[in-house]
Amino acid sequence: MLAVIGGSGLTQLANLDVSHREVLRTPYGEPSGAVTFGQICGHPVAFLARHGYGHTIPPHEVNYRANIWALCKRGATAIVSVASVGGIRADLRPGDLIIPHQILDYTWGRKMTYHEGRDSAVVHIDFTEPYDGALRALLIKAAGLTGVAVKDSAVYAATQGPRLETAAEINRYERDGADVVGMTGMPEAALARELNVPYAAINVVSNYAAGRADSLNGISFDAIDAVLQESMGHVRSIIESLVGCGDPSCS
Ligand code: HPA
Repeated sequence: MLAVIGGSGLTQLANLDVSHREVLRTPYGEPSGAVTFGQICGHPVAFLARHGYGHTIPPHEVNYRANIWALCKRGATAIVSVASVGGIRADLRPGDLIIPHQILDYTWGRKMTYHEGRDSAVVHIDFTEPYDGALRALLIKAAGLTGVAVKDSAVYAATQGPRLETAAEINRYERDGADVVGMTGMPEAALARELNVPYAAINVVSNYAAGRADSLNGISFDAIDAVLQESMGHVRSIIESLVGCGDPSCS
């Protein structure tokens, strides 16, 4: 079963034929909200709103461990994360969709592993390629089939939030090699890897990053909302195509 984690601008999947919702408890606490189960084109899909259904949970307070655990335990064989980002790379514009391939992690203080505490063995995961290659390829193919243009690679910088960045921070991230910046990509990706669930992301560029282009003198939140509203239709089309164009289970 494909699971979709929706970020800002995607608190529900309009094309999901809902069968039921489940409030799930995990050893790590409560997920962001009830998991919605249903079908898209006859294929089972689960959906979870990362920030809660009322968009009340900020990025640094999301219980990433509970979210990934709950989806995995309820049968997710692949997770697609949808998240808005600021565009750093010069060719990226608001409204662009991206399937990122790498991550730089600047977050701190988040619960980032399932393996902690004196009683737990030390566990390291290979994270050379943070996103699942086969699932990324399926997403890129799905986008191609729908005619939705996506950029097929980008380095995602995960920042702590909830504030947006300073212009100097964005310059630093660019020097580090980042193409886009967002607040929720980590530890989500690493936790999915710890549980061995294939995980990939669709990033929606909602704004130029701080200090760049239209954001030279500040970032307009109204403009971000407008971009997200317009772009999520494309995201839904890609997901529809994904469930119909191949088995999203890549394990
Ligand atoms: N910075 C961090 N996170 C974001 C941004 C941004 O500019 N836009 C959307 N999410």
